[in-house]
Amino acid sequence: MLDLNRSDFPDGFLFGASTSSYQIEGHSFGGAGKTHWDTFAATPGNVVGGQNGDIACDHYHRMDEDLDLLRDANFDVYRFSTSWARVLPEGRGKVNAEGLDFYERLVDGLLERGIKPAATLYHWELPSALADLGGWANRDIAGWFADFTQVVMERIGDRVWSAAPINEPWCVAWMSHFSGNHAPGLRDVRATARAMHHVLLAHGRSIEVMRGLGMENLGAVCNLEYAVPVDGSEAAAKATRTYDGFYNRFFLGGLFNKSYPEDLMDGLGPHLPEKWHDDMDLIGQKVDWCGLNYYTRKLIAPAEGPWPHLEEVTGPLSKTQVGWEIYPDGLYHLLKRVHEGYTRDIPLYVTENGMACDDSVSGGEVKDQKRVDYLDAHLARVKRAADEGIPVKGYFTWSLLDNYEWNLGYAPRFGIVHVDFKSLKRTPKASYHALSTALQR
Ligand code: FCB
Repeated sequence: MLDLNRSDFPDGFLFGASTSSYQIEGHSFGGAGKTHWDTFAATPGNVVGGQNGDIACDHYHRMDEDLDLLRDANFDVYRFSTSWARVLPEGRGKVNAEGLDFYERLVDGLLERGIKPAATLYHWELPSALADLGGWANRDIAGWFADFTQVVMERIGDRVWSAAPINEPWCVAWMSHFSGNHAPGLRDVRATARAMHHVLLAHGRSIEVMRGLGMENLGAVCNLEYAVPVDGSEAAAKATRTYDGFYNRFFLGGLFNKSYPEDLMDGLGPHLPEKWHDDMDLIGQKVDWCGLNYYTRKLIAPAEGPWPHLEEVTGPLSKTQVGWEIYPDGLYHLLKRVHEGYTRDIPLYVTENGMACDDSVSGGEVKDQKRVDYLDAHLARVKRAADEGIPVKGYFTWSLLDNYEWNLGYAPRFGIVHVDFKSLKRTPKASYHALSTALQR
């Protein structure tokens, strides 16, 4: 059981679950084109076990069963993403009609069940044909993405409840071009700086397209981390500020204040595209809400070597299956900070929050009490923020299903529904039942 129930939250507060296309659908089905995740996974050493999204949860063929699970959990809203390569196998040009039909059936299936569809246009599966042209490091991606937005939203834009262009710009840009542990696996500061700017430019162009189609309730979704200095030294404080800068402040600053942090310019400035200032009005145009994805905090220490002169340090708090420290207070602090410093009066949503556990089925049950505790603790921080007048209007758990956790493959289990990746059988976990009960009360 969860401690908190629906009635503990303000009237109209929405509860939902999030997923993403490549992680659940099965990308080898339905005429989808190749993506940079397929080739990244096909390169030894990138993904645990060399696993890829070919089959994933086979959601492509089991969509109705999965939508029933959402309905039976009493969720109000479902956050899904549309795969660029499923709709446009070459990234541009010819539309795969079967792909577009799939997303239309998904949206209609949600509406039939009384669930609001919350669409994200891009959750990381860049078509390989566009990766060949430089992907996010190429400024032209903003136009390609605008065209993709047009194709998808001309079909489903009249029926989705909300839409966001891009999931987690930090992951698209930094994790994938600087840290190198997500596709395309680059480790290059110039490509990173360009991707950081272009991902926001693409966001802006996509919002423009959707406004042009008359759509409302458009937002931006950022993943944020609560950064903490490893000790009381000045050097640790500076390193933490830099980490917070390229993780949180860069994207929030661009999207909501039309500016990038000055203190990052010694490291990033030389690598940003020329005349980036000219794009800031487009990037910072008004959106209707902001989504925060929150999982963990990070301890930061100074380090030798080139910018950003820092490293992440393992912290002492209890950890999830993927080693992330559990720190619910960070969610409250970030909601408050984003509201006060960036988004002001527009609504906030927690668009992802959850944990990976080493779950297994026994006697038809999955006892994931740790996840129930995690959800309770984070929901309590969301409630605190709402009670203090911060306009947080909804909470989505990551994720509905156990799924393909990117470079970590299928071992980390983030779902409130267990998936047996051999039989593809779904088994709702204790956390699913707890949520379903709490949302009726
Ligand atoms: C988020 C991603 C999501 C999933 C969770 C665990 O950063 O948006 O796809 O990988 O982390």
